[in-house]
Amino acid sequence: MEYKLKETISKDAFRYGYLVNKIFPFLKPHMGRIILNMIVAVPLGLLDGVVAFALKPYMDCVINGKSWVIGGFTIEQNVLATAIPFAIVTFALIQGLLKYTNNYLTDWTGNKVSNSLKVELFRKLTSLDPKFYDINSSGIVLTRFFTDPETASKNIINTIKTFIMTVFGILGLVAVLLFNSWKLAIIGVTVMGIAITPVTLIRKRIKKVSNATMVVGGDMTTNFNETFAGNKIMTAYNLQKLQNNKFEKQIKEQFNLTISLTKRVGWMSPIMYFICSIGIALVMFYGNHLIISGQMTAGSFASFVTSLLLLYKPVKDLGRTLTDLQSTFVALGRVFELFDLIPYIKNKENAVKISGLQNSIDFEHVWFEYEKDLPVLKDFNLHIQKGETIALVGNSGGGKSTTVNLLPRFYDIKSGSIKFDGVDIRDIDIESLRNNISFVFQDNFLFSGTIRENILMGKETATEDEISNVVKMAHLDEFLSTLEKGIDTYVGERGASLSGGQRQRVAIARAMIKNAPIVILDEATSALDNESEAIVQKALDNLMQNKTVFVIAHRLSTINNADRIAVINEGELVELGTHEQLMAIPDGNYKHLYDMQFKNQETDL
Ligand SMILES: Nc1ncnc2c1ncn2[C@@H]1O[C@H](COP(=O)(O)OP(=O)(O)OP(=O)(O)O)[C@@H](O)[C@H]1O
Ligand SMILES: [Mg+2]
Repeated sequence: MEYKLKETISKDAFRYGYLVNKIFPFLKPHMGRIILNMIVAVPLGLLDGVVAFALKPYMDCVINGKSWVIGGFTIEQNVLATAIPFAIVTFALIQGLLKYTNNYLTDWTGNKVSNSLKVELFRKLTSLDPKFYDINSSGIVLTRFFTDPETASKNIINTIKTFIMTVFGILGLVAVLLFNSWKLAIIGVTVMGIAITPVTLIRKRIKKVSNATMVVGGDMTTNFNETFAGNKIMTAYNLQKLQNNKFEKQIKEQFNLTISLTKRVGWMSPIMYFICSIGIALVMFYGNHLIISGQMTAGSFASFVTSLLLLYKPVKDLGRTLTDLQSTFVALGRVFELFDLIPYIKNKENAVKISGLQNSIDFEHVWFEYEKDLPVLKDFNLHIQKGETIALVGNSGGGKSTTVNLLPRFYDIKSGSIKFDGVDIRDIDIESLRNNISFVFQDNFLFSGTIRENILMGKETATEDEISNVVKMAHLDEFLSTLEKGIDTYVGERGASLSGGQRQRVAIARAMIKNAPIVILDEATSALDNESEAIVQKALDNLMQNKTVFVIAHRLSTINNADRIAVINEGELVELGTHEQLMAIPDGNYKHLYDMQFKNQETDL
């Protein structure tokens, strides 16, 4: 399975049957309204024909003073003259009502379908594992999320509706043409047919341009998101110009694409008009002859020409509807490509639920790679006893974070196994696995909301007492007392209004309140100064009590507290033991690291 989303057309864009099957369950709950909408579209389409048809009795009877004979009935001039104004008002009223119903139903069903698609898509997005987010740009994902469901669902209903309306519009008008003169009708319809051929020819070119527009759109969104997230770096390195140029280039490209589309499409309409004018000229030419020779009344002719003129729009719409239908399927293809993604990390059928750790965690011959054939962990073995604190140290990029990221199954390993109490974590129910792990990252992410809300993410049901307890233990109380709204202070998107150290302490409080038996601290105190670290270290000691702990740190104080130290270099476990044991290895990696990195910190303690 491929996790990478295609930038433009998905592989399924032209499997119409498959896509209809897929969208059907989303349409089904609203079928009543959708069908009603389609039914309303029929009279709406026919209305144009009625107007054109009415011109004949109006001109021949009301203006020329004859009675109107239709289907055996005779209607007098004065009756018609009174009835027609009323008919116009009634007609407008009916048309208005139908249009309103039609628009309402189209919008209602379109939005409903689009919303349920979005809800499902969002659910899918949250179910996908980190790898998906590693390899797809935010721009592409956002377009997939915001634009495609709208295009797909709104278009599909609108297109079917317009299709019905135009088909009935065309049928009605053609009936009026035939009613007035079948000879003229043949000329008119033939010319109309010629006039719309350019529409069918040009469709392919339009598609190519709209795909390119989409890629640029995605790039722009990514650029925009990066400008947001990387705002400080942009400012610090004076990258504004670079970002601006990038954006200007993209917007220019978008302009060129739009204009090239206009150039390709813009000439179509005038040409169609031109061909149509030839048609009307021909009709006039022949029609004049019919009127003069008494084979046709003036009213018939007026009605005919009006029908022909009115026919232009639905015929053109029909062409557009077909193009719309195509883009609907393209959007549907993209939506369902996302739907069809199967998370790499998912529960096995008979996944077991765990509660707590009884004995040990084992890494057995673990091989892991992010990218194919670039192993990051190589035959990694490690046995961790319950209640033990193990420190991971080693060179940057050696694989420490990777090792701990494998425990909650952010990624799955390539071979070997990771076991909790002898059970492979791939056989454990993912939710229960993650429930047993508290994670504090180096770069802690807070959600927009209050500090309280962020802490409660560790345990939704926590009591006031539990909250104030962890606030104290994470040494947040002093900081919170300086805030006007205390724990209910809003932290902004990503927690932007807090300092790195404050964010880290909120994250520690979040991990504490979760009170999971396994604790992972990946550089959890790196953003703190020595003094705060000493304080938070005490907090962490609380967090670590009676827990099985993995701690990655660059500070000796944290490492000193560990029962054992594992040195990981280039994805391999090179040394394992207590501080004393490792220091005793002559020319050892740890000793080297210690001499280089930790020794100077001893004076701080
Ligand atoms: N999401 C990812 N996709 C691809 N490669 C990655 C990803 N994350 C990490 N790597 C690569 O895996 C290797 C190990 O990275 P890891 O983050 O585990 O190192 P680390 O030991 O934690 O380093 P540091 O001390 O700098 O945090 C690095 O070569 C890194 O480039
Ligand atoms: Mg790391």
